[in-house]
Amino acid sequence: MTGNAEPLNAQRILTTSRPRVIGCAGEVWDTVQSTMDTARRQALAGVPDGYVVIAEKQRSGRGRTGSWECTARQGILMSVVLRMGIARGERRLTGLMGAVAAAETAQTFAVQARIKWPNDIVVAEKKDNALCIRKLGGVLVEQAGDGDAAPTHILGIGLNVNQDHRALPPVEPQPTSLKIERGGRALDRELLCVRLIEKLDEWYAKLRAGYVEALLARWRTLCCLLGEKVRADVEGTIVTGTVTGLRATGELILQSDEGQEIVLSSERTTLLFGA
Ligand code: BTN
Repeated sequence: MTGNAEPLNAQRILTTSRPRVIGCAGEVWDTVQSTMDTARRQALAGVPDGYVVIAEKQRSGRGRTGSWECTARQGILMSVVLRMGIARGERRLTGLMGAVAAAETAQTFAVQARIKWPNDIVVAEKKDNALCIRKLGGVLVEQAGDGDAAPTHILGIGLNVNQDHRALPPVEPQPTSLKIERGGRALDRELLCVRLIEKLDEWYAKLRAGYVEALLARWRTLCCLLGEKVRADVEGTIVTGTVTGLRATGELILQSDEGQEIVLSSERTTLLFGA
């Protein structure tokens, strides 16, 4: 396994752990536009289920609502081709799976990672009764090809690993890295890739076997928002209330301050803090 800023080695990553679906094959690039694009091209060219694309740097990394910035060789930039036939409406399930696997991976490296709906990987702390969030990473799901009842999904995961404060972009929520959260102790990124692949494989196997409830239950235990007071911008309308649950289809359930149950879809909602 490699030290701090050494390049990742595809062969080592893919052969280190047991035979599996996720990570059965894959490639590591120095620089790509976005691993999402590379993985999509590979999906259309016919690579197998679980094919992994990793890059050290992206020229044009995408986030859920804008770009995704990561200094070369300091993070994890990974996309996975998933062909298990998650029906169109279950695309959110793929995102939940990515978030659970990424948070669990961070926890195996002694960082108390949680999930902020929909799929941000964060460290959450209560200060003066307010929730303070620092973002470690995020998850993006796109579809490859079109028209099928069971389209191929591209699951993208970005994690800040060995950045110091000055290498992180000035964005909201405040970014952090696993190294910062470990008090300055750098991580072996290759080992992190292996563990992430293993976690994804574990959850992917459960989903293929139909254990959707197990995934949702795990997501709920990792979510830092349940029971918390939040403010949400729903297409320009501000609602405030307490988070009470997550629907099986990925929407967040809020008990509004006026006593109504509100169902928030991630496509239409931005969560604001400081309620
Ligand atoms: C978010 O906005 O929180 C989601 C960030 C997802 C970033 C990852 S990095 C690997 C993959 N390639 C991309 O261009 N985006 C995703």
